Amino acid sequence: MTTMTQPFLSVASLDKTFVLHGQGGLRLEVMRDLSLTLAPGECLVLAGRSGIGKSTLLKMLHGSYRVSGGSLQLHFEDGELELADLSPQAWPALRREVIGYVSQFLRVVPRVPAVEVVMEPLLARGVDAAEARPRAEALLARLNLPERLWSLPPGTFSGGEQQRVNIARGFIGEHPLLLLDEPTASLDAANRDVVVELIREAKARGTAMLGIFHDEDVRERVADRLLPLDRHMLARASAPDAQETP
Ligand SMILES: Nc1ncnc2c1ncn2[C@@H]1O[C@H](COP(=O)(O)OP(=O)(O)OP(=O)(O)O)[C@@H](O)[C@H]1O
Ligand SMILES: [Mg+2]
Repeated sequence: MTTMTQPFLSVASLDKTFVLHGQGGLRLEVMRDLSLTLAPGECLVLAGRSGIGKSTLLKMLHGSYRVSGGSLQLHFEDGELELADLSPQAWPALRREVIGYVSQFLRVVPRVPAVEVVMEPLLARGVDAAEARPRAEALLARLNLPERLWSLPPGTFSGGEQQRVNIARGFIGEHPLLLLDEPTASLDAANRDVVVELIREAKARGTAMLGIFHDEDVRERVADRLLPLDRHMLARASAPDAQETP
């Protein structure tokens, strides 16, 4: 179905070059002139080979990598917000309220029980623990995380168990923009199905999603569009043998 929905995110002429200060200032150009738009309720899937820059794009949208050129804009009812030159102080509030992220691996905080890891995005917004806890538990139950694990810190959990905690933490906040970096990579078929359902429910409530899924089947079930990154990747202009440090 094609609708004339206004985009929530637009990326225009985005460039990214890493400058490796530990390597004599070596420049690694990863992305050039990438443009895309993403509407509310739409899931755009980033495609392309390993190392092409998929995670890098998500990290720029989450403020963990700086943009080298171009624009990343969010469109709100009351105006535009340019992310490319947002001050570091503005990012935490944006991540709390607007941009959710399921990273490829859970960043484990020692001694914090799994259920509290999942509750945290709601607590950060001022939601009461009494309301946040049952919501976290419901998500962990849907993702088939055994109840005996809920009160344990996820540090010793299996890869798939950690990933399910990570997914629950990413979806609980119901952010308007959600970035998904291979959320199903370490899951079995039953849990992949749950993630597909969560993504479909998020779409239905208008969440705009940008995702990376290596699993063809998941990709087909969630993607409204595919964005192949290959055209935006430089032909390894800065391959190490082409480097000459001044
Ligand atoms: N912090 C960094 N410093 C220097 N180079 C980086 C950094 N992060 C990523 N890169 C480089 O940028 C390129 C793109 O990496 P990225 O992680 O975005 O790839 P990807 O498409 O997500 O790959 P994969 O499918 O394997 O996850 C790679 O060549 C990588 O080495
Ligand atoms: Mg990646």
